[in-house]
Amino acid sequence: MTNNEFPTFALRTMEVTSAEFVASYPKASQCPKDGRPEFAFIGRSNVGKSSLINMLTRKGLAKVSATPGKTRLLNYFLINKTWYLVDLPGYGYARVSKEQQKTLANMINGYFLNRKELICAFVLIDSNIPPTKIDLEFINGLGENGIPFAIAFTKTDRIGKTTLDKNIALFMDELSKTWETLPPCFITSSERKTGKTEILDFIGKALKQL
Ligand code: GTP
Ligand code: MG
Repeated sequence: MTNNEFPTFALRTMEVTSAEFVASYPKASQCPKDGRPEFAFIGRSNVGKSSLINMLTRKGLAKVSATPGKTRLLNYFLINKTWYLVDLPGYGYARVSKEQQKTLANMINGYFLNRKELICAFVLIDSNIPPTKIDLEFINGLGENGIPFAIAFTKTDRIGKTTLDKNIALFMDELSKTWETLPPCFITSSERKTGKTEILDFIGKALKQL
C-alpha cells in the first residue's frame, strides 16, 4: 500500500463556497421560517461584526463603516445554501435618540428570545480595551436565558501581545465571577484574517452535530 492509499480521517476546514445576502428584517417574527440553522454576530456598535462576517465569507458581503451604528436591522446571509449568518445591530450606541436605542434593544432582545434556529451567537469583544460593563451585562443576559454563545475578541492586529493577553485574561476573570464554565473563545483580526479557520471549524462541527 502506498501513502496515497491511506484513507484520511482528518476533519477538513469548512469552506464557504457561496455567500449571498438574503434580506434585512426589522423584527424576529419576520425572519426566515425555513428552519435552516443560523449563527449570529453581536457586540457593541463598531466592534467589527460586519468586518468579521466579510472575513469569514467574502469581501463586501456585509456593510462595514467607520461610523458606529451602521447595521440597524437583522441582516441575513445564506451560506453554502444551507445555513444563515446573521449580522445584528450593535448594542450600546449612545449617539442615537432614546427612542431609536429602545427600538434597537427590542430588536436584539426579540431576536435572541425568539429564534429557535439560533445555534450559537458570537459575541464580539474589542480586545483593545479592558472589560466593559455593557459587554459583561449583555453576556450575562444571554447566559441567564440559556442562549448558547461563543466569544470573539476583535481587532487584535491593533495592539501588542502583552496588552492583548492582559485584556483577554481580565475579561475571562470577570466571566469566572459569574459562570462556572467559560464559553469557547476566538482571537480574531479581520484585517489579518486571524481566527477564520477556527471559527469556520467551530461552525462546521456544530452543524455536523445537528
Ligand atoms: P456597526 O454595524 O456600526 O455596529 O459596526 P460593526 O460592529 O459591524 O463594525 P464594522 O465591521 O463596520 O467595523 C467598524 C470599524 O472597525 C471599521 O472602520 C472597520 O474597518 C474596523 N475594523 C473592523 N474589524 C477590524 C480589525 O480586525 N482590525 C482593524 N484594524 N480594524 C477593524
Ligand atoms: Mg455592522
